[in-house]
Amino acid sequence: MISNIKNIFDKYNKISFMKYIITGSSGQLAKAFIKKFKELNYDFVAPNKQELDITDKYKVEKIFLEYTPNIFINCAAYNNVEFAEQDNSRAILTNKTAVLNLVEIAKKYNTKLIHFSSDYVFDGTKGSLYTEEDKTNPLNEYGKSKLAGEQEALKYNNSLVCRLSWVIGEGQQNFLYKLSGWLKNNKTIKVSYDEVSVPCFTFDIVDVIIKTLENNLVGLYHLTNSGKASRYELAKEFVRLNSCDNEILPVPMASFSSKVKRPLVTAMSNKKISQELNITIPSWQESLKKYIELIKNRIS
Ligand SMILES: NC(=O)c1ccc[n+]([C@@H]2O[C@H](COP(=O)([O-])OP(=O)(O)OC[C@H]3O[C@@H](n4cnc5c(N)ncnc54)[C@H](OP(=O)(O)O)[C@@H]3O)[C@@H](O)[C@H]2O)c1
Repeated sequence: MISNIKNIFDKYNKISFMKYIITGSSGQLAKAFIKKFKELNYDFVAPNKQELDITDKYKVEKIFLEYTPNIFINCAAYNNVEFAEQDNSRAILTNKTAVLNLVEIAKKYNTKLIHFSSDYVFDGTKGSLYTEEDKTNPLNEYGKSKLAGEQEALKYNNSLVCRLSWVIGEGQQNFLYKLSGWLKNNKTIKVSYDEVSVPCFTFDIVDVIIKTLENNLVGLYHLTNSGKASRYELAKEFVRLNSCDNEILPVPMASFSSKVKRPLVTAMSNKKISQELNITIPSWQESLKKYIELIKNRIS
């Protein structure tokens, strides 16, 4: 018992004395890391895109030299699925080439790399929850760039790659933020019932990543909240919890015009990461309530 407690204490102490760089600091996931790391009093720097463009190899190496991080958390990414389809150059540069450079530099300075990928590496046709062993087959340029990036990251034996889906946190680049705006201006809102994945709340992602650091996990994992939902189910639950009187109409995803092919059912299983860390990741419904508390002022 005492040695168990000592082990936990040692693990905690080890990671709390490390130095971290967090990239893409204006993004929603980076914001959650910054918030948590401030609470925990971790030693970190979090440059934004202007301060550290990850596609600038020279600047990335400079910050490694100046700050000597133990852990590099790459939250920076090009996430514009529509634009990437018209011109994939920015997506490739940010999501693949920059990761290749990060790996080279992280290897050189013996730094652990944490990188995030996406459920869009799958084509959405499996019919059940995707596992880490499933075949990838991205349908669009964004998905291809994210797949290429995770493959680069995984060439380094000291990197952890977590695939995420429907990332939701304090920020504007997520479905619920947009939905809360639509709810204010429209009585009826059409939402797809056949697009299914798992909402991933940034505060849960950060908590799990801290556990992965304590347990020194490397390799590829799916990191999602527990359960799965269609966009329609997510929107309905959001409206219910906020006691809104808007009507949410279920429609097929195909009814929205888009030049991009999107996978329909990309929900991933978090079984591997949960088992290896011996944790239960909260259900998306549970974390949705917590998220609503966080953004309360915006929808009232
Ligand atoms: N959002 C989702 O639903 C979703 C789903 C699956 C996986 N993911 C993955 O999860 C991770 C976190 O996503 P997120 O939702 O936090 O994304 P986000 O809110 O869009 O944040 C990404 C941040 O990276 C910045 N950035 C873009 N290019 C950069 C560059 N070259 N150098 C430095 N910073 C750069 C962006 O700045 P600008 O906005 O100024 O360009 C933005 O602040 C990403 O790897 C993403 O691909 C996200």
